[in-house]
Amino acid sequence: MAFETIIVETQGHVGTITLDRAEAMNALNATLLDEMANALGRFEEDDTIGAIVITGNEKAFAAGADIKEMAERSYPSAMMDDFIGGSWQAISKCRKPVIAAVSGYALGGGCEVAMACDIIIAADTARFGLPEITLGVIPGAGGTQRLTRAVGKAKAMEMILSGRFMTAEEAERACLVSRVVPEGDLMEEAMTLAAKIADMSGVAVMTAKKAVERAHETSLAEGLIFERSAFYALFATEDQKEGMAAFVEKRKAQFRNR
Ligand code: CAA
Repeated sequence: MAFETIIVETQGHVGTITLDRAEAMNALNATLLDEMANALGRFEEDDTIGAIVITGNEKAFAAGADIKEMAERSYPSAMMDDFIGGSWQAISKCRKPVIAAVSGYALGGGCEVAMACDIIIAADTARFGLPEITLGVIPGAGGTQRLTRAVGKAKAMEMILSGRFMTAEEAERACLVSRVVPEGDLMEEAMTLAAKIADMSGVAVMTAKKAVERAHETSLAEGLIFERSAFYALFATEDQKEGMAAFVEKRKAQFRNR
């Protein structure tokens, strides 16, 4: 399938989705969101893909939901169409790890897309913000919840109530991003990390992702119970036998996702 608003590629075991509406700062219109959901669905089904990278261009990862497309929406239409349901939820439903490689603006829905990913790597040019308040609304695709969990209440309140942007350096200090790299190295760093993850046991990676997600979604006691059960369960996999045998035999493990 040819896409209009994204570029989809694979490199080894890594799938990449490049948002490609440069003329609109990669604003997330319905077509782009549907295409991104479609591409993610294909990567999920493709057994050769072990990790996914989503990126934009130098100026913008994505400057938010498409304001021009959204401006005339009514409350009933938002409710009846479940405006932020469907394709907006595709990343958070993804079972494979998703890395956001962010340069330039990641604003509003663009910041929310990045925060729905499992890891954010930022170029030193990246700017993060939730400026919805300046449009007379609030973040609607997870921003009030995910930013607060990532950076804490005071900084999240300041950004969401004032619309202030955060630099990449501040985002790293605030633990919103895992790493800041020079702009020119962004894709290489993101692809190297994605390839490294894709080389692991897919069963263990998916299990680890679920366990880390639990840390945000449940109590410590429940999370620890989940982690321990998941840890025990991995001893039923061939990949555990291979991983530990490879360590003992001083060779690289060959995981088969079994
Ligand atoms: N929607 C639609 N079009 C957008 C857009 C958006 N979110 N962001 C930028 N564009 C368009 C501009 O309208 C402009 O198009 P024209 O050339 O046709 O006028 C083009 O992209 C280039 O943008 P600018 O001329 O504004 O570029 P700039 O360098 O001066 O500023 C910017 C860049 C700071 C990102 C600025 O464009 C901006 O503030 N964009 C809007 C950011 C925003 O408010 N995002 C939140 C959206 S609401 C949301 O996301 C809701 C939600 O939670 C789901």
